[in-house]
Amino acid sequence: MELALAQRLQRIPPYPFREVAATKRRMLEAGIELIDFGIGDPDMPTPDFVIEALHEAAQDPATHPYDESGLGIPEFKDAVAAFAQKRFGVSVSTDSEIQSCIGSKEALVHIIWAYIDPSDVVLVPDPAYSVYKVQTTWCGGAAFPMPLSAERGFLPDFKAIPKPVAKAAKLMFLNYPNNPTGAVAELSFFEEAVQFALENHILIVNDCAYSEVAYDGFRPPSILQVEGAKDCSIEIHSLSKTFNMTGWRVAWAMGGKDFVAALSKVKANVDSGTFMAIQRAAAVALNRYEEWVPILQAEYQRRRDALVEGLQSLGCPIEKPKATFYVWVPCPKGYSAPEFASALMEKCRILAIPGGVYGEYGEGFVRMSLTLKSPDRMAAIGQAIENMRTGLVLGW
Ligand SMILES: Cc1ncc(COP(=O)(O)O)c(C=O)c1O
Repeated sequence: MELALAQRLQRIPPYPFREVAATKRRMLEAGIELIDFGIGDPDMPTPDFVIEALHEAAQDPATHPYDESGLGIPEFKDAVAAFAQKRFGVSVSTDSEIQSCIGSKEALVHIIWAYIDPSDVVLVPDPAYSVYKVQTTWCGGAAFPMPLSAERGFLPDFKAIPKPVAKAAKLMFLNYPNNPTGAVAELSFFEEAVQFALENHILIVNDCAYSEVAYDGFRPPSILQVEGAKDCSIEIHSLSKTFNMTGWRVAWAMGGKDFVAALSKVKANVDSGTFMAIQRAAAVALNRYEEWVPILQAEYQRRRDALVEGLQSLGCPIEKPKATFYVWVPCPKGYSAPEFASALMEKCRILAIPGGVYGEYGEGFVRMSLTLKSPDRMAAIGQAIENMRTGLVLGW
């Protein structure tokens, strides 16, 4: 039976990483194994203490029904509030300023549903995680791009946004530490963002999925550290990348209570919350973040150093990112991003993502994720650099 798709689904492109996974499968079927710097999905297991906490919690029948509160169980919200206080020095009320979520993707989608009507304007960084723009389009809204350029450290220039657009905008997405560029924001940038948002009556959604994947002692700030931020911001955090828990689907939103309530209203009508046993395990994870996070950071830092130093040895003008597990590699002379990604695949057996997947301003770069699936990750990185040295003539 042929059935027309809803207009809103027709308006959006296929999900990019489904395509990447399909390419990888096709190559494997043809007997070609790629060194996979593609999707940013942690390759290491969830820490044992979190799995044990889930095991115990799942055996308690009290965790089996719906989470009736809808907002998250007290144990989880207490752990979130303690984490926010300890990590960022930010106080959030467990009564009204925290919403548990089924992964941060879910939270990002539903905050758009909560606020965006047809024709509403949303300021979206470009390049960016695709969900911000796609879901804006889904709701009939207009995504206005904020270009992220290397010259500005991949931070948007609020002064470059035309005044009528700034006045019309209802929502603005920020994402620091940033996917795909690996850029970070200092607190002074968030101060500027809050001032811009308050002046123009815009809600900032700060996607903080990579807040703990940081290096060289850098501690990414929260936008909520800025005075007045709760009047114009909601921040989305996730356990996915911090604790190797992408498949568990557990995250939270925190910020101004009206924004949290709006998200909560959508969720009450769409899903029925996160499995309470997972919330209990997530609380255990957050309560022990200080002992776990340095282990995670040390592993990715080793990989980052090997990849970036290897690229530098090929002549690539690139600096080590201070955070995220992404390396945003400028294309060599004579290559567009799709051409460079294809050459890497065909000549070097390397899977990297062409920057255009993240938006028009991603052209000129490819993204390499440090989350490798090869059994010996350091050897795979070394091999990748060797394959580039021997497989291609590169100049920047
Ligand atoms: C910037 C960014 N935000 C959000 C997510 C979604 O993470 P999750 O839904 O697993 O919390 C991702 C996943 O890659 C991401 O890169």
